[in-house]
This record gives sequence, C-alpha cells and structure tokens, in this order.
Amino acid sequence: MSLSGTATRYGSLAQALHWLTALLVLIAFLVSEGGPATRVYSADNASTLLLHESLGFAVFWLLVIRLIWRLFDRIPDAPPMPGWMDIASRATHWALYALLFAVPATAMLGAWFGGHPVTVYGLGAIGPFSGTWGTSLAEIHGTLGDIILWLAGLHAAAAIYHHVILRDRVLSQMVPGLPNPSSGLGRQARP
Ligand code: HEM
Ligand code: HEM
Repeated sequence: MSLSGTATRYGSLAQALHWLTALLVLIAFLVSEGGPATRVYSADNASTLLLHESLGFAVFWLLVIRLIWRLFDRIPDAPPMPGWMDIASRATHWALYALLFAVPATAMLGAWFGGHPVTVYGLGAIGPFSGTWGTSLAEIHGTLGDIILWLAGLHAAAAIYHHVILRDRVLSQMVPGLPNPSSGLGRQARP
C-alpha cells in the first residue's frame, strides 16, 4: 500500500496517523482524573497525570504532522451519497480536527494559568505562568474531552453504518486490508 492516498483509499501514513490518534485519545480519556485540583495534582496521582498529559501532548503533535501531510496527500473522493450526508461527514471531520487542537490547548493553558507546571514524558517542566483564568479553562478542557469522545463515537457509528447498511467504501478507505463491500472482492469475501 502506498504512503499517499488514492481516489478510493487513504494512504498508509494518513491511516496510521488516524488510528494512532484514536488510540491515544481513548487512553488519555480513560486515564483522565477529575475532581478538585488537590486530587488532580496530588502526589498519589502524579504518574497518572504524567501519562495523561504526555498522551495528550502526543495527540497534539500527531495533529500537526497530520495536517501538514494532508496538504500534500491525495484525499479520497466521497463515494456517491446524498448532499446532506456529505456535508454532515465533512463537518464532523473538521469538528474532530478542531477538538484535537482545542482539547490539548485548553489543558495546557488551563494548567499553566492555574498555577501548575506541565511536565511531558518526564522531561523538564514548563510554566506555570501567572494568570487567573486557569480553573475555568481546565473545566472547559474536561468538557471538550467528553465531547470529543461522544463525537468520535458517533463518527465511528456512522462509519460502521456506511459499511454494513449502505455498503459503500467509506470504512474500507480508512481500514488497512478491509475490502470495499460494494466491490466484487467484498461480495466474494462474504459467507
Ligand atoms: C486528547 C487528549 C486529551 C483528552 C481526551 C483529555 C480528556 C480529559 C478529561 C475528560 C478530563 C476531565 C476528567 C473528569 O473531570 O472526569 C481531563 C482532565 C485533565 N486533563 Fe486532559 N485530556 C487530554 C489532553 C490533556 C493534555 C495535553 C493535558 C496537559 C496539560 C491534560 C491535562 C489535564 C488536567 C490537568 C486535567 C484535570 C483538570 C482539572 O480538573 O483541574 N489533558 N482531561
Ligand atoms: C478519537 C477517535 C477518532 C478521531 C479523533 C477521528 C478523527 C477523524 C478525522 C479528523 C477524519 C477525517 C480524515 C481526513 O479526511 O482528513 C476521520 C476519518 C475517518 N474515520 Fe475517524 N476518528 C476517530 C475514530 C474512528 C473510529 C473508531 C472509526 C471506525 C470505527 C473511524 C473511522 C473513520 C473513517 C472510516 C474515516 C474516513 C471517512 C471518509 O472517508 O469519509 N474513526 N476520522
């Protein structure tokens, strides 16, 4: 499979970045700690927080690499579908990209301006900076963290609906080795 995409499939780099991002977002969400700042920043929670912040920071850099690569990559054409569905799908993708930026950005600004340094991968800490709006940004971060999971869940359900019910190539465009259900190969693969 080639690094770049084609008219009917994302390339291997776009696929790898997509699935790695999805995995890291899911783990960052699962290890996220809520509650009062005294608990979030307690010594007992330090290793979980380091993991959460490091994963989230990795998501941010994967987004940067992915968007730069997207400028040069061939993005597959949408298979035939009603206009509203095409618009809903594009809007969801760009909302997910916006959240992949906003979730780590609000987290880092919230921590810094809430009086906490941010330590990533156990390397040196950055911040904190003086400011008063850290707490509200941290709350916004938690809410956006929930929203990205809900939206990604809806997006995944839509992809599976395309594959199983509409039987078009939407899911196979992003999954390595998955045949397009509307192609001859897909039909042969069915029992
Ligand atoms: C895509 C990546 C991320 C996701 C999905 C995510 C998700 C979440 C969620 C859902 C919460 C709230 C937990 C709750 O209230 O039950 C939270 C809290 C938190 N996250 Fe993240 N996060 C991500 C990235 C980051 C990054 C990059 C940092 C680095 C600073 C970070 C730092 C924090 C902190 C400090 C809290 C506690 C906030 C507070 O209540 O004071 N997160 N995160
Ligand atoms: C946190 C989790 C996820 C995020 C943030 C995410 C984000 C995105 C984004 C931004 C795109 C647009 C790619 C582009 O054209 O530049 C995309 C495409 C896609 N995603 Fe996800 N995704 C996630 C999880 C999933 C899951 C779990 C599935 C399937 C079960 C999935 C299936 C797809 C498919 C099939 C496409 C291609 C859609 C098309 O060509 O119209 N994604 N995803």
